[in-house]
Parts: sequence; C-alpha cells; structure tokens
Amino acid sequence: MERIIFDTDSAVFNDDAAALAMLTRRPDAVETLGVTVVAGNYPVPQGAEHMLHLLELVGADTIPLYLGAHSPLVNSPAQAARQEARWGPVSFKGAFDASDTVAPPHGGRFATARPATGGAVPFIIETIDRYPNEITLVAVGPMTNIALALQQRPDLAPRVKRFVFMGGNVHVPGNVTPAAEFNIWFDPEAAHAVLATALPEVVMFGLDITNHAPLHRSRFDRMVAADTPLTRLMRHDMGPRFNADPAATYHIWDCITAAWLIDPAIVTRSEHLPVAVDTALGPTYGGTVAAAESDARTIEVMLDLDLERFFGLYEELLTS
Ligand code: BDR
Ligand code: CA
Repeated sequence: MERIIFDTDSAVFNDDAAALAMLTRRPDAVETLGVTVVAGNYPVPQGAEHMLHLLELVGADTIPLYLGAHSPLVNSPAQAARQEARWGPVSFKGAFDASDTVAPPHGGRFATARPATGGAVPFIIETIDRYPNEITLVAVGPMTNIALALQQRPDLAPRVKRFVFMGGNVHVPGNVTPAAEFNIWFDPEAAHAVLATALPEVVMFGLDITNHAPLHRSRFDRMVAADTPLTRLMRHDMGPRFNADPAATYHIWDCITAAWLIDPAIVTRSEHLPVAVDTALGPTYGGTVAAAESDARTIEVMLDLDLERFFGLYEELLTS
C-alpha cells in the first residue's frame, strides 16, 4: 500500500485530473492523503477548481486539497520572454500565459468543497512529520511546493519514503524547447534543489517513458462511449482535438506515474543514472541531463512500459 501526497499542476482532465481519478479508484493500493496544487499548467486558483471538481465527480471530496506556490522560485513571465527573445520559442508556458480570472469547471458550477486551510507547504511538512518513512511524494507538476517544503525542513528529506515525479527528458528531446520538458522548465531551480536533498529514493517518469504511450482516437472513442460523469469530462476536455483531427494523439504523461503506483509491473525498463538539471539561463534552461561525470545524484529513470497492461488499467479505471 502506497501512502501518497499528490502534488499537481492541475490539467482539466488530460492528464493530472485523469491521474488523480485513477488513484482515487484504487484506495486498496494507494491512499491519497492530500492533493497539493502548484502553478504550472494553470495558475493555482484555477487549477484548484479543476481538481476540486474532479474530486467531487469521483466521490472523493473528503481528500483535502491545499493551495501551493503561485509562482516558481526564479522563472517568471518576464524571464520567459527574455529567454524566447534570445534563444527561440518556448512552445507552452502554462500559467505564465493565463489570465487571473477563475472560470467555473465543466458543468458551470464550482465544487462544494473548498481548499483546506493551511496551504500546501505546511501540509507536506506536517504529513511527513506525522508518517516518517511512509510517505511517497508524487509530483506531476513543477517541483516548487516540494522544494519549498524541503528548504524549510531539510531534515525531512531522509524521512520521505520516496519521491516520484513526472518530468524531464534524458535520452529524448524536450517538449517545450528542444532541451526541456514543461514541468522542469517551469521551475528548474526547484527541481535542482529537490534533487540535491537527501531523499532516499527518486523515481523519474520523464518523456523517455511517456512518449511511448500516446492515446489514439479509437481508445478514446471506446472510453467516452461509457458515458459516465468522468468520461463526459474526458469528452469535453479531449474531444475537440480528436474531432478536429482524427489522427491526433494525446500524451497522457501523469497517468503513467499514477498507473505505476497502482501496478509497478507496467514499467518494463529503467536505468539508474545521475541526473542534473540545467539552471543556467540559456537555450538549454530546464533541461535534464544524464551527467555521468558530475556529482548529480543517481535516480531511477523509467524508460519503457507494457502498453497493453498500462492502457488496460487506464481504460478500466476511468470507465468503471
Ligand atoms: C507535463 O507538463 C504538464 O503540463 C503535464 O500535466 C505533465 O505533467 C508534461 O510535460
Ligand atoms: Ca501535470
């Protein structure tokens, strides 16, 4: 049984919300103690509404949700503009491009449950304190909340059971610049700080593994045919792109991390590598590099998966 904190940058359905939905379907395998929201895909207030809505939809609104860091440690819209002017486009800037207005989630109504008081960073600290060596920290957005918690209480890092994150790219190109993946690019300094702590075990689900599992229209069509509240949200969020281009595919990044927490056998290949984060503002800002000669810490880099096993779980959990 995994006991987790789910730290998320809150995509509508694909992919943070789908990942959380998967986890809430299997409380026998994963106990989600809390959801902590960080800026990334969306600003925190909007992201929180997506996740509160999702929790209500799956009947899991007793899981508390905490608001976290509203901006990265160093990166900012102004810095991103400077980066683009000098070194070329960043294809997705998430919350940096979003308005401050908070729109109601799909269905037009805000969820009844509201964010818990206290904030994400105190919640992370209190929870690790309360369950020493038992908590798996799961980060599927930028690592700002985790970095702030471990900066405040570095003594807690060795008392985390393990840290599992979606982000980065080792043997493949980035997805927002040729060098960088979004979660790490949004807050490279946080990722660098977290990987430098005394966390006993770190597991990386980067683009190396997530690139292998695109969602195609045939599976999407089969899933939304279930016509449940959850698949209606899926259709609302992901349908327009498939309608515009039937050959389109979706990356469902965070869902692979969620699936592995439930069924570790979905991963078929991994490597232990020293991984460093590039924090020098330049064309490779936010890239992750396997640096054999460096003093970077060694982490487990997930590389490939059993597609049938993964998609079987994904489909079953999201349509049941
Ligand atoms: C990652 O960036 C986020 O926008 C997605 O939810 C995923 O966690 C993919 O690069
Ligand atoms: Ca995410």
